[in-house]
Amino acid sequence: MSGNLHVLQTRLPNTARSFTTKAPAWDSLLDPSRAYRYPECWQLLVMRIYLDYNATTPVDPAVLDAMLPYFAETFGNASSIHSPGQRARGAVDGARASVAALLGAKNSEIVFTSGGTESDNLALFGAVAASQEPRKHIITTAIEHHAVLNSAQALEKLGVAVTYIPVGREGVVDLADIRRAITPETMLISVMHANNELGTIQPIEEISRIASAAKVLFHCDAVQTAGKLPLDVNRLGVDLLSISAHKIYGPKGTGALYVRSGTPLEPQFHGGHHERDRRPGTENVPGIVGLGKAAELARKNLMTDCARITSLRNRLEDTLLGACADAHVNGKRAQRVSNTSNISFHAAGGEALVIALDLQGIACSTGAACSSGAVGPSHVLMAIGLSPDEARSSLRFSLGRTTTPAEIDQVVAVIPQAVERLRALSPLNTNAAISA
Ligand SMILES: Cc1ncc(COP(=O)(O)O)c(C=O)c1O
Repeated sequence: MSGNLHVLQTRLPNTARSFTTKAPAWDSLLDPSRAYRYPECWQLLVMRIYLDYNATTPVDPAVLDAMLPYFAETFGNASSIHSPGQRARGAVDGARASVAALLGAKNSEIVFTSGGTESDNLALFGAVAASQEPRKHIITTAIEHHAVLNSAQALEKLGVAVTYIPVGREGVVDLADIRRAITPETMLISVMHANNELGTIQPIEEISRIASAAKVLFHCDAVQTAGKLPLDVNRLGVDLLSISAHKIYGPKGTGALYVRSGTPLEPQFHGGHHERDRRPGTENVPGIVGLGKAAELARKNLMTDCARITSLRNRLEDTLLGACADAHVNGKRAQRVSNTSNISFHAAGGEALVIALDLQGIACSTGAACSSGAVGPSHVLMAIGLSPDEARSSLRFSLGRTTTPAEIDQVVAVIPQAVERLRALSPLNTNAAISA
């Protein structure tokens, strides 16, 4: 354990280390009865392998270091005209420039929000509210995140017509379906860049050409591609694009919406004139600074992270498919982001598998974190044509910056046995070849 303590101490940034040394002795962090007081430290020590980076990422130590002064030392309101306010404003402006650089946007086109969900809501509701059209129609896909899907459903209740484009077995939309869905009333298309469960990448540049030819606004939820793919809003041709800090080693509760200059957008909150009248509310300065630093690191690390993580993901998939009968990768033939793998293990039961692996110190998931607790199989896996049982027997592994080859070796050593044990207990396991 002292080795673990050393690792923990060296992973913490200077400022955080000085805070934690004021906490009770390091050894007391290891006492399970006190785990509730220091859950992060406890998790780092006992949770050996984390493969759920699409749900959230740890805050990078450099991000935490950048944020900490803005809680207490430099606490000014970024709208105040005095010096503390100006210092906060300077920090917000710096973060805006960094996010704009990540997206190839102008600083003035970045609106800070409370995360991906708010960015998606602002894009959809804001664009619809600003539209001059008397009749409104929007197009989205069946595999969007609930931040978009449930917004679209709420808009339907307000009288907006919505077309949900289906996807094929590989989890990618067909451009012909999008072309066919456009009507004279269509005012917005919203398609995600990479799917959070499958990692499949949608043909955003082609869709933006279709949207622009039809004079329709185009929103893209890029929450799962920021930091994983190069993002250039001009090359992608989008009018609106959402990102979230906690998917790129930044803090939870902070995000941004890119709004192309001239795009009509009605604010969805009412208050002051913050964010150029597009999103009122006192800026979350530490969170915004964290997003800015995370964006800077994402840009710097993109290529190295990608190459390394792709090879680890492929090793995970190849070994698991070799070792487990009747397992297949969902969306395998599509272009996918480097870190995501969604695997169906016939008749193993995804939730039971997640729990079994968790007991062995491996964290992965059955799908979107915000759907956990939801009854019913994943809407994404159902949309690609899996049966409810197949969908319920699928796991999502999402790798990240700190994933190591040794961790992948450990995971592939543990999973086949766990799958076999659960299959032996499963009422779905009628296949003699599998139970043999
Ligand atoms: C594709 C996608 N969009 C939106 C969100 C919501 O982002 P946030 O958690 O910042 O609200 C997520 C989160 O999982 C996501 O994966």
